[in-house]
Amino acid sequence: MSEEELNRFNSLSLSGDGRNNETENINNTNSSTLSQESLQPSNQLEGGLLGWYAACSSKSLRTGQIYNFSMYNEPLILYRDKDDNPRCVKDLCPHRGASFIGGDLEDGELICPYHGARYSSKGECTNIDRITCSHIVDTNYKNYAKKIHLSQYPCKEKNGYIYIYYNGKSKTDLAEFEINYSLENTLVESYGFNTPEYKYEEVTVDFKADWARIIENHLDILHIFWVHGETIPDKDVSRNVITSFNQKIKRESRQIESKYNHKEIDKGEFITIKFIPPGRVVIYKGDESTARYVQVLDHIPLAENRARVIVRHYRKFLKNKIFTNLVMFKELQHRLFYKVFSEDYMILKTQSFNQQMGYIEKDNVKLLGEDKMVQYYWDWLNNALKRDKPWQLNPTDSHTNKVHRDMPMLYPPENSTLDRANNRDIYLKLILRLLVPIGIVLIII
Ligand code: FES
Ligand SMILES: [Fe+2]
Repeated sequence: MSEEELNRFNSLSLSGDGRNNETENINNTNSSTLSQESLQPSNQLEGGLLGWYAACSSKSLRTGQIYNFSMYNEPLILYRDKDDNPRCVKDLCPHRGASFIGGDLEDGELICPYHGARYSSKGECTNIDRITCSHIVDTNYKNYAKKIHLSQYPCKEKNGYIYIYYNGKSKTDLAEFEINYSLENTLVESYGFNTPEYKYEEVTVDFKADWARIIENHLDILHIFWVHGETIPDKDVSRNVITSFNQKIKRESRQIESKYNHKEIDKGEFITIKFIPPGRVVIYKGDESTARYVQVLDHIPLAENRARVIVRHYRKFLKNKIFTNLVMFKELQHRLFYKVFSEDYMILKTQSFNQQMGYIEKDNVKLLGEDKMVQYYWDWLNNALKRDKPWQLNPTDSHTNKVHRDMPMLYPPENSTLDRANNRDIYLKLILRLLVPIGIVLIII
């Protein structure tokens, strides 16, 4: 981000006293804009942009397969070692810099596709004698061998997610990492959700859109009525009724939380949205320990204008496996996810320019009452960008090889193959479910 862009972005964010653990009640009206004096920054969030990210789901990281992605433009891979532990490695072979895309995994050891260097779980090259004539390389062969070592990031698997600790400085020895923000702060279980009690469906979606804009979209309560009003199966969510709420915002050291209550007191709560830095949004209704459903959205900043979202929908209902199979709940839920994300994408791809509101001028936007969550997010983002400068870790220019930028764009809505495959499954299962009873009837008569 250039100095000029940063200044322009700063002009959108407002300064304040940074009080901790405060709760505010806001009686919103959509017709009034927020006065600048009423806004305080959410700079009391301790987590920044560098830290623990849910980079992929456990299901997506299959044994024996290399999962490639990137973080803030840095190409990375994930794989499982011989003990099935996840490993996150810089996608660059330390011999001659090839990517591991197209490489192999044998007994959990990574093999480079260029000259066959093979790496142990710890990242050491185990077959250096195969790729070099030691007497030609150096008289000090052992020292040379030590340098052929994978560069890695800490990685943990918890509750069906693979988390990586991303700080832009991969190391050959994981023990050298200083981790100054605990993974516990990111886990939804630390906020009172008892996820083992739930079943869940999940999809991964890639956007050619700005990472921060996608998070904003998920914090934006108003758009769901208009953009998704005809898709979300909830009678309270409709294009014909744009509802404003009484809003209660809590800003704590680990999260910003906004609770939206209907203005008609007897209708109670509409929804609660939490932002947990650096990239998690949680949406649910009611008390954390008893909520019927919980939606967890993880945002992965792949590259400039490239982001991946993992959406997981936990539910306390429809837990019977046979029944959910019969009604094709999974496929229908995936279809709904893809539809909702396609609707978001229509907006997001046009909003994108850079990762930090590059095109928005101060006088071009007016935030409304319901946008206060978005404002607090901007304030946090502004502080975190200044502190962590993640986009400066792996800057790109017109000469940057773009292969890695587009390679991970695997999932709808950018690539609709999975969406189509899901629809095909639905139609096939539907036909089968119709044919079986017809067949039985025919046999009987
Ligand atoms: S570049 Fe990987 S083995 Fe040579
Ligand atoms: Fe949306």
